[in-house]
Amino acid sequence: MRSKLTKAIFPVAGLGTRFLPATKSVPKEIMTLVDRPLVQYAIDEARAAGIKEFIFVTSRGKGALEDYFDEAPQLERELRKKGKDELLEILKSTNMDSGEIAYTRQNKALGLGHAVWCARRLIGNEPFAVILPDDVIAAEKPCLQQMAEAFRETGGNMVAAMEVPEDKASAYGMLDIKEDHGHMVSTKGMVEKPAPGEQPSNLAVIGRYILTPTVLQKLNKKKTGAGGEIQLTDAIDAARDSGEEVYGFRFDGQRFDCGSKAGFLQATVAFALERAELRDELWDYIYDLVHTAKAAE
Ligand code: G1P
Repeated sequence: MRSKLTKAIFPVAGLGTRFLPATKSVPKEIMTLVDRPLVQYAIDEARAAGIKEFIFVTSRGKGALEDYFDEAPQLERELRKKGKDELLEILKSTNMDSGEIAYTRQNKALGLGHAVWCARRLIGNEPFAVILPDDVIAAEKPCLQQMAEAFRETGGNMVAAMEVPEDKASAYGMLDIKEDHGHMVSTKGMVEKPAPGEQPSNLAVIGRYILTPTVLQKLNKKKTGAGGEIQLTDAIDAARDSGEEVYGFRFDGQRFDCGSKAGFLQATVAFALERAELRDELWDYIYDLVHTAKAAE
């Protein structure tokens, strides 16, 4: 029987330099879209996909991230006393049970592949998911859940995939397509950050993965790739080379690149417009902004 998918790795060791000075004292993953930290969206998505063990690969200066998942008894007491039940429920929904969350440290910034490898002992010999919290995906059915359902049918390795414009391909892992079945594609290769014009297709890897333990074995070799870093893409492709399947999964949903300021702002607006209590006010503001700009043209 195929093993169940119950573990997910969240690589959160990055310095977040693109968001300095904010990230001088606040981990990037704690920055908020409306009123929820980036990492909460990732946790919720993993839970919806049936994940039971949440493994964070952290680094120095990520203390606020660990605190975020703790119970906050004093705060809870205050809210209870003031009868703020709705807020209390929201707050409690962010608590993680003891034992369902684990932290391991990436002591050197050697790349995404290395970060995932740092969690190898916590994974053991079963399939696992990787979620990059910078990639926020708005979807009716959460992206990893869509993938987990497809994975139950296919097994193998699976990466979330999305078409990107030609001039953006060198920012991504890019898939070399063997057969295209619409939602699912089988692959015959993967290239991390190809040189401009050298991408094998326009289908990019987005930060959701379901992987076999073979990928961890390939990472053991610690071979460096694009940018002198140990790349997850290369290890997945090596697993394919040794006979495993690697599928790309075109998910339903909209992906925001919250590793960039423009992407973060777009996600903020999109998620705020989804909220009944904010929609009208924000929409009026955007409408006025656009009309004033148009009138000035
Ligand atoms: C990482 C992966 C890359 C993937 C991208 C998606 O790159 O290495 O394959 O396409 O995430 O966001 P990064 O954005 O960390 O450079």
